[in-house]
Amino acid sequence: MSESSICIKKGNSPIGVRLEGIDLRKPLSGAEVLLIEQLLYSHSVLAISDQNLDVPAWRAFCMYLGPLHRNATSPFHVRDYPEIMVLSNKRNPDGSQVGALDAGQDWHTDMSYNAEPGKFTALHALDVPMRDGQPLGDTQFCDMYAAYAALPAEVRERIDGAWALHDFHKYFDEAIRRGSTRPPLTPEQRAKRPPVRHPMVGRHPVTGRKFLYADPGYTVSIEGWSAAESQRMLDDLFEFQLRPEFLYRHRWRRGDVLLWDNWSTIHKATADYGPTEYRHMIRAQINAFEPQGMMSFAALDTSVPA
Ligand code: OGA
Ligand code: MN
Repeated sequence: MSESSICIKKGNSPIGVRLEGIDLRKPLSGAEVLLIEQLLYSHSVLAISDQNLDVPAWRAFCMYLGPLHRNATSPFHVRDYPEIMVLSNKRNPDGSQVGALDAGQDWHTDMSYNAEPGKFTALHALDVPMRDGQPLGDTQFCDMYAAYAALPAEVRERIDGAWALHDFHKYFDEAIRRGSTRPPLTPEQRAKRPPVRHPMVGRHPVTGRKFLYADPGYTVSIEGWSAAESQRMLDDLFEFQLRPEFLYRHRWRRGDVLLWDNWSTIHKATADYGPTEYRHMIRAQINAFEPQGMMSFAALDTSVPA
């Protein structure tokens, strides 16, 4: 890293920052990795401009951030690279899909349906759909630290210490209801992914800040609450957290690498591009180093004695 070429650009949104002047094809120094992690933790979403990584280079870069999740079931990972998924509306010559067509089109945070949710997600845009010189297919984010901090005190009191159930099927069934062509889950697939419980308010293991952990994509109910009370609270939270002041909209540039923190944000893909306006991304998901430790994030007391 030559100090002079690095440039950090911050827009007006509370989250999201852009890093320019770094080449991710080269081995990274400890200082570069630290810079990337610090930007990610302090801004929750980090774009790195002007990259052109092939699959091996992409995997090598992502592995600096932690162990990669291996997707054993998705048909859209790269052959021989179970850690690398493809999101794409391109077609093979035989008409088959090149990648997942409609990933992430409702608000969610990655793998909250898992006992070990994703830590960071990484996307690399090899093609960005453009119309009239403007990019399409933005990815939208919500700052869940800010959403939590802005909740009325009595709501915070009610959900602090509460646990919610997260269910993979909610998202999948909703996607089909919205018109997705993905085949419905078989009973065997359903049985493999029972709902999991997570604290509704997390304390970030690195920043120590509290965040709201409830995503419309997967969160189905609050444990121990009546169905009506639980539904009312979740509906209110899902509406509240999408206030414009908490949102950041990432406008893609070809070559962008985008990283986000899955605890302090939720996100959503924007399906505003047509079948011949190509959007092609490679993806990886970074696990926490200590998956078991993640469940303790609500209980963790990170305060420093005075
Ligand atoms: C994802 C996702 C959003 C997008 O990859 O997890 O939700 O805009 N992607 O492609
Ligand atoms: Mn996602």
